[in-house]
Amino acid sequence: MKILILGSGGREYSIARAMKNEKEVHELFFQPGNGATSDLGTNLNIKDYNELAAFAKENEIELTIVGPEAPLVDGVVDIFKAEGLTIFGPSKEAAQLEGSKVYMKNFLAKYNIPTAAYIESDSIEELYKFTESLTAPIVVKADGLCGGKGVIIAMSHDEAKKAIGEMLSGKSFGDAGKKVIVEEFLDGFELSMFAICDGDDYILLQAAQDHKRLLDGDQGPNTGGMGAYAPTPLVDEELYQKVRDRVIRPTLNGMKEEGAPFEGVLFIGIMVVNGEPITLEFNVRFGDPECEILMPLMTSSVSDMFYKAATKRLSDINVEFSNQYAVGVVMASANYPYSSSTPAEIIVDEVHHEEIAKNTHISYAGVSREDNKLYADGGRVLVCVGLGDSIKEARNRAYLRCGQVHFAGKKIRTDIAYQAL
Ligand code: AMP
Ligand code: GLY
Repeated sequence: MKILILGSGGREYSIARAMKNEKEVHELFFQPGNGATSDLGTNLNIKDYNELAAFAKENEIELTIVGPEAPLVDGVVDIFKAEGLTIFGPSKEAAQLEGSKVYMKNFLAKYNIPTAAYIESDSIEELYKFTESLTAPIVVKADGLCGGKGVIIAMSHDEAKKAIGEMLSGKSFGDAGKKVIVEEFLDGFELSMFAICDGDDYILLQAAQDHKRLLDGDQGPNTGGMGAYAPTPLVDEELYQKVRDRVIRPTLNGMKEEGAPFEGVLFIGIMVVNGEPITLEFNVRFGDPECEILMPLMTSSVSDMFYKAATKRLSDINVEFSNQYAVGVVMASANYPYSSSTPAEIIVDEVHHEEIAKNTHISYAGVSREDNKLYADGGRVLVCVGLGDSIKEARNRAYLRCGQVHFAGKKIRTDIAYQAL
């Protein structure tokens, strides 16, 4: 197939890598891609979605996959569909499940999907009043997209009020903070679950855990994610079934009722509290780095799964998973997540050990290429992925691979998957 992938991260690299490993030969295009996706296909530079759709038509692209949320919230799927193109992702309207936390929370409430008790408002008095009724910590969220920074876990009422004030005034997140959610703090363990949806049917992938904080022991600031592993033994069949019955099915039915059937990746952020899955939030795309560890665990065709989902035929296929575990360790650049870093050349040692060569790989993210050398370009640079018959084995292999990747200022967590060991 001729496939176009939107995005530039390790997530998009890992989708492309999985496709390149299939029996069928695919021709891949990336908009914009990164310094390593050019090894897997052709990087484009067409920012305008109408022009991109025209390119897809001219070049007979058979499937387009959208990685990040921003193009989805901007309506890229609607533009492609209007041109008769096949694209996997939610419509602009359905993408509101991620684009507006107020939309998402009101949707959850309307369809009785368990979520933290909350209030949404643009009135400081109302928000303060609800804040007073809670005990700290208190969770304050800006309505719109904030690049993963729009959630404040306030340790006191004063801190919560300060965050509310700064959001409403536009000081912290501009228009994204015009409406604010205050909600109760849930104490439990967090999961990332992903359902590939075609509007009616879905395929639930294996449950993963992300590591959002920068430092070992879940300390330091929040990041996009410093590592992930799957499947997690913290989830048993009963919990999967609860998520199917209480979250995914009512969401697909509800979105149809809203006139915005959900097609694409439904990313469910779950807090498990006393064995019950409570929905923290939805995203409408794969998690990063979760995607990098889920793709290599799929033994059936990834391209076929996305194609069938995009053409509403998910019920026709059987998706198969390997019985291995995957652990992904993110390598970030020196100043992540605060500011950009000076580009640093990446040296990857040749892997001679056969077992490591066979059971590890790298998904490249924040990298650029110059004179055929790869440079760490700031942010999250790459993910070292290890596979194994146990989480421990997968993790050891991932860390062995990390030891063979070098660039100035590289930063990693050393405790990925600790929850499962
Ligand atoms: P979000 O951007 O909504 O995923 O929130 C970022 C992170 O904040 C989540 O991954 C959780 O770790 C945390 N969080 C969000 N809402 C709550 C809540 N109600 N209780 C506890 N932690 C939360
Ligand atoms: N790793 C979490 C996210 O992609 O939002």
